[in-house]
Amino acid sequence: MTDSSVHLLDAARAVRLYAHAPFSHFLVGAALEAADGNIVTGCNVENATYGLTICAERVAVFKAISEGLRHFTRIAIVADTADPTPPCGACRQILWEMAGDLEIILGNLKIETARHRLRDLFPFPFDSRLLTKSAAS
Ligand code: THU
Repeated sequence: MTDSSVHLLDAARAVRLYAHAPFSHFLVGAALEAADGNIVTGCNVENATYGLTICAERVAVFKAISEGLRHFTRIAIVADTADPTPPCGACRQILWEMAGDLEIILGNLKIETARHRLRDLFPFPFDSRLLTKSAAS
């Protein structure tokens, strides 16, 4: 584990405390690192309809995009669990489209619990390259 991944996990731990999770009580924090070194954080924000809930990872991605960042290297995701909390399917799609093959660092309040490449968690993606292909051409 490098010092900078400790820093990224700590940023995810800090933002996790802002999670709005009155329904699940499952607080998640994410810290997305841009290629220029910027770190953009996000927490989960739940909604009474449940379905409008947004995960910590997507909050971080959308914040980063809206701040003009476009190139990303790693994301740290933290929950208060012994087992790693990997990104959900919807977040994998968004992360893939907006950030590509990120390094995904998972952790809890104390330690790093797992590390993956997004391509391994999301091996056969639908993305914009497929929108341009026609079977007839
Ligand atoms: N959640 C995240 O924010 N990220 C994940 O990787 C897994 C799940 C949130 C969504 C919801 O607010 C709560 O955790 C329980 O699913």
